[in-house]
Amino acid sequence: MDENELEIEWKDFLAVGVPEMDAEHRKFITRVNELDLAIVAAKDKATVRQAMDLMLSEAANHFKHEEELLAEWKYPHAAAHAAKHAALWTQFGGLLREFEQAEFSFVWAVKGLKVKQLLVAHLLKEDLTYRDYLQSRSRQ
Ligand SMILES: [Fe+2]
Ligand SMILES: [Fe+2]
Repeated sequence: MDENELEIEWKDFLAVGVPEMDAEHRKFITRVNELDLAIVAAKDKATVRQAMDLMLSEAANHFKHEEELLAEWKYPHAAAHAAKHAALWTQFGGLLREFEQAEFSFVWAVKGLKVKQLLVAHLLKEDLTYRDYLQSRSRQ
């Protein structure tokens, strides 16, 4: 597979219009690409784990920050959004355990990709929903 095929690019439609969130989301996309590259280049498990840990520790801080802002903006689905973050975290815990236990590179690579996919899907679905809310609010 061509390495570039996996690369995700920042696109303006991803902007939620809040500079600090957009900066964190941009950084997140960079981390996702670094993780992909480590997996696709079939780097060793420790290198992939390191890329995953970095992505996840930044995601943890980002989730917290986002939850604080959503509450501040009185986003009506702030609690549901936070619950989705928490559910993701539970899934990550399971995937990380499976990653650790996986003996074969194709197994741990799949677990690593799954963590990334879940995070990207959250950004595309849930985060863009609050973007729509903020946009509709600013038009009022
Ligand atoms: Fe979120
Ligand atoms: Fe987010």
